[in-house]
Amino acid sequence: MVKINDNYSKLPGSYLFSTIGKKVREYSGLHPDKKIIRLGIGDVTLPLAPAIIDSLHSAVDEMGKAETFKGYAPDLGYEFLREAIAENDYRLRGCQIAADEIFVSDGAKCDSGNIQEIFSTDSCIAVCDPVYPVYVDSNVMAGRTGDYDSDMGTWSDVIYMPCTADNGFLPALPKETPDLIYLCFPNNPTGAAVTKARLQEWVDYALKVGAVILYDAAYEAYITQDDVPHSIYECQGARGCAIELRSFSKNAGFTGLRLGFTVVPKELECGGALLHSLWARRHGTKYNGAPYIVQRAGEAVYSEAGKAQLAEQIAYYRKNADYIYNGLKEAGYTVSGGVNSPYVWLKTPEGMTSWAFFDHLLERANVVGTPGSGFGPSGEGYFRLTAFGSYENTVEAVDRIKAL
Ligand SMILES: Cc1ncc(COP(=O)(O)O)c(C=O)c1O
Repeated sequence: MVKINDNYSKLPGSYLFSTIGKKVREYSGLHPDKKIIRLGIGDVTLPLAPAIIDSLHSAVDEMGKAETFKGYAPDLGYEFLREAIAENDYRLRGCQIAADEIFVSDGAKCDSGNIQEIFSTDSCIAVCDPVYPVYVDSNVMAGRTGDYDSDMGTWSDVIYMPCTADNGFLPALPKETPDLIYLCFPNNPTGAAVTKARLQEWVDYALKVGAVILYDAAYEAYITQDDVPHSIYECQGARGCAIELRSFSKNAGFTGLRLGFTVVPKELECGGALLHSLWARRHGTKYNGAPYIVQRAGEAVYSEAGKAQLAEQIAYYRKNADYIYNGLKEAGYTVSGGVNSPYVWLKTPEGMTSWAFFDHLLERANVVGTPGSGFGPSGEGYFRLTAFGSYENTVEAVDRIKAL
């Protein structure tokens, strides 16, 4: 008889955003006159920048002519895009990353879920707590975790690295030795950023214990402080221990268009096998490449016009983040994140649980955010607000919270 992959049966339901949606629908049903402002989900709201739209249009026209029509894209990405990424995201920042170390994909969610496939199912993973859930769930599906403790919201055989106010929301080096270390900076959900010196400690540690760091830099465009690295390859030795994941979603508004990439340095090896070859083999077997028109849109992100327009978009979201951060601080909340991130992480007042504060904000201010406990046990007592709304709505939401 056919059997399913039983690891899927171990997964608890994904309740966070469905519970939020249900609560908001119920409240709106009872109070149809109330204007609800959503600062919960990490999706962008500004339309694609004109340089990207122009590039999309001309790529669409190319697809309509026999002379310029494109069929299957190269598995690993078009040279024009990989070259633009290598130059702008890496060489201009002093990182030695070649175009053929870049694997273009349809986004960082897929890459962060798929990358575990090239490692043994015996590998022990270490994750931050709170955490972007994809890292954990994809390892559960692969059978790399033990049992789920529903009271704690944690899995056995996983190393959780608490990120709390006590450690400035930055994980300490784990006591047990992991094989794979997931790091995400600037962080979702806490908005915390790591300095180059602190990240160097992780690189040194990974090199020492023979671990691989899976570094998710989806939010690097929001970095404002000079000592915060945009890429892990700014650290010495990172080519020997780190894979980097990037996205076009948050810097260029591609959440609906879909584009991302993974960097795997050629000398990165594990038990004598080159991870670059394994990831190339995986990509070539299971993926047929991001669409030509989307890769041309990605190329426009690095054009002079694209860079200028996207800097304005980031500045817009940054202004929202500042308004949330400063407004809530003035109102007496304990806030963090926001400075190098579109996420503001606030401590719930008067010992309220994350969900109690969610209900309180929804009912009293008609503002929707994300309960921190949905990202892991150390998120309990915290709440995430995003800067991805419109400026007007952000101001109104913060003013309503201040008036409570
Ligand atoms: C940490 C992190 N990585 C990756 C992603 C997904 O990026 P993409 O839209 O490229 O799949 C998100 C989206 O919210 C994220 O927060």
